[in-house]
Amino acid sequence: MDSTQQEYLNLIAEIMDVRKRSSKPLAYIHTYGCQQNVADSEKIKGMLFLAGFDFTEAAEDADFILFNTCAVREHAEDRVFGNVGALKNIKRRHPSVIIALCGCMMEQAHVAERIKRSYPFVNLVFGTRSLFHFPEILYNVLLTGDRTFERDITEKSVCEGLPVLRDGSFKGWLPIMYGCDNFCSYCIVPYVRGRERSRSSEAVIAEAKDMISKGYKDITLLGQNVNSYGKGLNEDINFAKLLKEIDKIPGDYRLRFMTSHPKDCSKELIDTIAEGTHICTHLHLPFQSGSDRILKLMNRKYDRKKYLEIVNYAKEKIPNVSLTSDIIVGFPGETYEDFCDTISLIKEVEFSSLFTFIYSRRKGTPAAEMEDVATDAEKSKWFTELLKTQEEIAAKRCASMVGETHRVLVEEKNEKNGLLTCRTSGNIIVEIESDESIIGTFKDVKITEARNWILRGVLI
Ligand code: 5AD
Ligand code: SF4
Repeated sequence: MDSTQQEYLNLIAEIMDVRKRSSKPLAYIHTYGCQQNVADSEKIKGMLFLAGFDFTEAAEDADFILFNTCAVREHAEDRVFGNVGALKNIKRRHPSVIIALCGCMMEQAHVAERIKRSYPFVNLVFGTRSLFHFPEILYNVLLTGDRTFERDITEKSVCEGLPVLRDGSFKGWLPIMYGCDNFCSYCIVPYVRGRERSRSSEAVIAEAKDMISKGYKDITLLGQNVNSYGKGLNEDINFAKLLKEIDKIPGDYRLRFMTSHPKDCSKELIDTIAEGTHICTHLHLPFQSGSDRILKLMNRKYDRKKYLEIVNYAKEKIPNVSLTSDIIVGFPGETYEDFCDTISLIKEVEFSSLFTFIYSRRKGTPAAEMEDVATDAEKSKWFTELLKTQEEIAAKRCASMVGETHRVLVEEKNEKNGLLTCRTSGNIIVEIESDESIIGTFKDVKITEARNWILRGVLI
């Protein structure tokens, strides 16, 4: 962050000292959507913290309310509109509160227009590429009281050095790149997060070292398509090389990454995972559809055969590799035959778990103009069939793990049953009975029982 923005943080602190309603100025931040948004919110929190803010879970108490929004599916957008509407009453009770909206939704002109028109109590809207001058924007709003819409900046650079206030103390996100150039025909991300740009390997490695020295045990490298990391950088680097470099950092930690695009997933990357010291034996490799016809319409640039080749290579090289994927059901033009190709692919690969979505029409994307053949009721039925198929596969996979020993990271207490939730290298959940004091540490556990897709184990 440059010194001008630092200066704005100091000015914000001075203003907030007068405006605050509690002993310290309070911010309420709600994040929707993916890990990239979580990572962005952690930067905003870092900046607010430097401006003297504390954080509250109660919007009612806050002097600054921010929703970091997601545009990937309509459902997420509807929730945001509903929740923003509910802020009207808070603004009525506390007129001094600043209400701000940021993130992917706000990069869409029609959304910003709707906020401008129908939600007059929203003070500030800014897009995904305005983070680096957030202090300046907020300062101007506080100073002038003007409604501000700061979006659609065609920011091409990567801003380094923003402060980060991470939500977790032992699990953390580390963005290695921003934006996406793939233009999958259903997806809004390239339009709202702009062109792909990578951080320098030096900056990423320095941040990883810093996190490890601070005790982070589980670090996830983030990007929309980590496999194309390094494109456009003035250094001899690719994602596999970056991963190898980070893996060399000494310490007791694990490395994960997401998301991989099958079209760019190299054998070099799979070999790197196989040979790694800290790299998890987990590959999240979204295939979206098992039908070549639909993959073409989706502009995914690989086919079923190529996908299976990568998966089989991973299974051969990485013992017990855990594979996960994203799937879209009901893409425009998808028939039951196409859907059956998805089901057969799932059965063939045997994923540990799946993130499954019903297709959501996104204004401005090519797929939004494509014709649909299936009804909503049919899509729902297919969706249920998909879930049921995957449940059976996951249950079978989990049952086969009984008796095995796994090194797990103990993550949190499940308040419902009092057990501790742990995660294997393959990202599979194991519940154990133990004392909360071991949260945040690695332990060896023996799997004793599989309850469908949840494992139970004991410490050894
Ligand atoms: N409708 C449904 N799912 C979508 N995804 C992206 N765009 C859409 C959409 N329009 C899913 C993809 C992607 C995941 C993050 O979200 O499966 O991998
Ligand atoms: Fe969207 Fe495709 Fe880019 Fe992923 S790779 S963010 S699905 S356009």
